[in-house]
Amino acid sequence: MKSRWLIGAGAAALLFSAQSHAALDMEAGKALGKKSGCFACHQVETKRVGPSWNDVAAKYKGNADAKKVLVEWIKKGGTGRWQMGVMPAYSPRVADADIDQLADFIISLAK
Ligand code: HEC
Repeated sequence: MKSRWLIGAGAAALLFSAQSHAALDMEAGKALGKKSGCFACHQVETKRVGPSWNDVAAKYKGNADAKKVLVEWIKKGGTGRWQMGVMPAYSPRVADADIDQLADFIISLAK
C-alpha cells in the first residue's frame, strides 16, 4: 500500500515539473536555439550577425514586459533595436511553444 502511494506521488511530481514553466537549462536552451536555426546568427556569449543572447538578457533585465516583447519579436522578426540589420520572422517556421521557451531561456540568461 505504502509503495503504491509513493509511486503515485512520484508521478504527480513528474507531471507537475513537465507543466511548470521553468526556463530551459543552458544545454537544453542551446539545443533548442540550434534546432530552431537561431545560431546561424546568434550565440549565447558572443555577438555575431545579431546580438549575443547574454546582451539581450542584460537589456531586458527587470523589464516586466520582456517575455511579451521577445515572443512578438521572434515571431515577426524586426530591425532597429541593435543597429545590426534585420532579423527574419520565425513564425510559423518555429512552433509557438518553442518560441515561448526560447524567450524564457534568453530572459533567464540575465545575471
Ligand atoms: C538571419 C539572422 C538571424 C537569425 C537566424 C536569427 N536572428 Fe535574432 N536577430 C538578428 C539580428 C540582425 C538582430 C538585431 C536586429 C536589430 O538590429 O534590431 C536580432 C535580434 C534578436 C533579439 C533581440 C530583440 C530585442 O528586442 O532586442 C532576439 C531576442 C533574437 N534576435 C532572438 C532570435 C531567436 C530566438 C532566433 C531563432 C528562432 C533568432 N533570433 C534567429 C538576426 C537573426
